[in-house]
Amino acid sequence: MTRVLVTAATGTVGRHVVAELAGTDVTVRAATRDPAAASERLDADEFVEFDFLRPETWGQALDGVDRLFLVRVPGVGVDETTAFADAAARVGVAYVVYLSALGAEKNPVIPHHRIERHLRTTGMGATFLRASFFMQNLNEVHGEDVRRRDELFVPAGDGATSFVDARDVGAAAAAVLADPAGAAGSYDLTGPEATDYAAVAAVFTDVLDRPIRYADPSIPTFVARWRARDEPLGFVLLLVGIYTTARLGLAGRVTDDLGALLGREPRTLREYVVDYAAEFRPAAADDRTTTAA
Ligand SMILES: NC(=O)c1ccc[n+]([C@@H]2O[C@H](COP(=O)([O-])OP(=O)(O)OC[C@H]3O[C@@H](n4cnc5c(N)ncnc54)[C@H](OP(=O)(O)O)[C@@H]3O)[C@@H](O)[C@H]2O)c1
Repeated sequence: MTRVLVTAATGTVGRHVVAELAGTDVTVRAATRDPAAASERLDADEFVEFDFLRPETWGQALDGVDRLFLVRVPGVGVDETTAFADAAARVGVAYVVYLSALGAEKNPVIPHHRIERHLRTTGMGATFLRASFFMQNLNEVHGEDVRRRDELFVPAGDGATSFVDARDVGAAAAAVLADPAGAAGSYDLTGPEATDYAAVAAVFTDVLDRPIRYADPSIPTFVARWRARDEPLGFVLLLVGIYTTARLGLAGRVTDDLGALLGREPRTLREYVVDYAAEFRPAAADDRTTTAA
């Protein structure tokens, strides 16, 4: 039977790759630094301890694997990611689906550009899923501002973003991993429309049934709030880069690639907010008033 190794299996996209593959006839192996914890949360056939930064874990993870879902995870460099891909190719992995980012082909500065280029040299069949900005950033990164302050606090001006639902990205990856025939190449995965943050706030307001405003802070104000939360400067600057791209109107491209891979329409932002409404419930009153940052 075909075996698929899913890296970052507990992550934003990986957990949906695992869930979607559960209904297919491939054997799903979830790679994680903590298999015991992951097995509580995920429905995979196999769990394996795996760390990009500990090559001694790679052999067991790759044993008997035919196809690979590869993610470049935060805190892991390009070199470790490509070295792992080389190891996969060496032991006979035939196909890799790589989670990349929209515009990676044009932007040599971002890690995905170099990783895609390297993957082309490995001899594995490859699909690059160049995803737009995940809707799930709104709860995973910015949920606190919505819960505590009823605001979307991002410096994106009036630029539009083609938000994509990470569940759909996971489903597209799973579809290719289950049957890669004819799927080699790159796909630009976006949601069905580009939305500016004023319109995003309007959707939140409507669905959550309380006013959510778009704050559109200056970059120094944005950096100050995030630094006051003790977030690493590198992460804060990454966010600034992402929202500056949106502010400049460079994040709004919409394509049909995702629908073609899924065989259905991608989820809308409204569907996402409805499904994740519990994540945006207002914080308790004292929590809303005592926060300085
Ligand atoms: N966010 C966006 O809008 C967006 C858009 C386009 C592309 N992307 C790309 O998507 C990728 C991130 O995907 P994601 O958001 O699904 O990931 P994620 O949620 O950040 O997941 C990271 C997972 O990686 C695992 N991990 C962390 N360190 C590890 C290590 N040293 N070795 C092995 N595993 C490790 C962790 O699992 P365990 O703790 O279980 O090991 C964690 O659950 C990035 O490359 C990003 O550039 C993101």
